[in-house]
Amino acid sequence: MELTMNQDKNAATVLRARKLNKSYFFDHSSLSVLHDIDLDIRRGEFVAVMGPSGCGKSTLLHILGLMQTANNAEELMLEGVDTMSLNQSQRTAVRRERIGFVFQRFNLLDILSAEDNLRLAFKIRGAQASDAQIKEVLATVGLSERSRHKPQQMSIGEQQRLAIARAMIHRPAILLADEPTGNLDSENTARIMDLLVSYNKEYGQTIIMVTHNPELVGRVDRLVKMKDGRIVE
Ligand SMILES: Nc1ncnc2c1ncn2[C@@H]1O[C@H](COP(=O)(O)OP(=O)(O)OP(=O)(O)O)[C@@H](O)[C@H]1O
Ligand SMILES: [Mg+2]
Repeated sequence: MELTMNQDKNAATVLRARKLNKSYFFDHSSLSVLHDIDLDIRRGEFVAVMGPSGCGKSTLLHILGLMQTANNAEELMLEGVDTMSLNQSQRTAVRRERIGFVFQRFNLLDILSAEDNLRLAFKIRGAQASDAQIKEVLATVGLSERSRHKPQQMSIGEQQRLAIARAMIHRPAILLADEPTGNLDSENTARIMDLLVSYNKEYGQTIIMVTHNPELVGRVDRLVKMKDGRIVE
């Protein structure tokens, strides 16, 4: 699908939110989880988001990545496009082309092997991956020996690395990663961080990464702290 929405793929501000609010309807009442979020992410920035469990980090990432919608926002722009005004198919098109998403719960397809999960990610974007390409992608996350395993036949950390590989497959301009190292040992955490930093530096990929690991903050450009649905610094 043609992106005819005045998208500016070189816009200096990749994401911009003003007074973004989100509440869930739960148990007959409204539960407010994001309050008046203001956020600007510049092109090529590597930003970490930290905050206590339940403060709204995943919800914010899902909204920025067009996986969920805000209830209201004065402004919610992605590369110059007002995403609040997009219809469902336009949102899907922007997401597929511009965004890579690493879900906190991975969202891998259990019936497919590791390599077929990756092949599907190419296919969704109209591309056919060669065996050599798939092999290379698996190697970047240290999964060369697990290509034919299905997610349930992989350790949690292996599943997490497969989810990261899948999100990176189309070299997305914007990578949103929800605790991408949350289940990894220190060796694999270092491997994944090296990978993210290299994509950020070499391809100018913009990255927002939710993390609970304070040691990773030294490797990013900026830290955004959240508490109780607000950005506190
Ligand atoms: N579908 C839903 N319906 C009702 N409440 C929800 C729903 N999804 C999330 N919540 C609530 O919204 C709040 C924010 O959730 P969110 O997943 O964004 O937190 P988080 O900061 O990512 O936490 P964690 O660090 O544990 O992953 C939580 O209190 C959660 O219980
Ligand atoms: Mg979360």
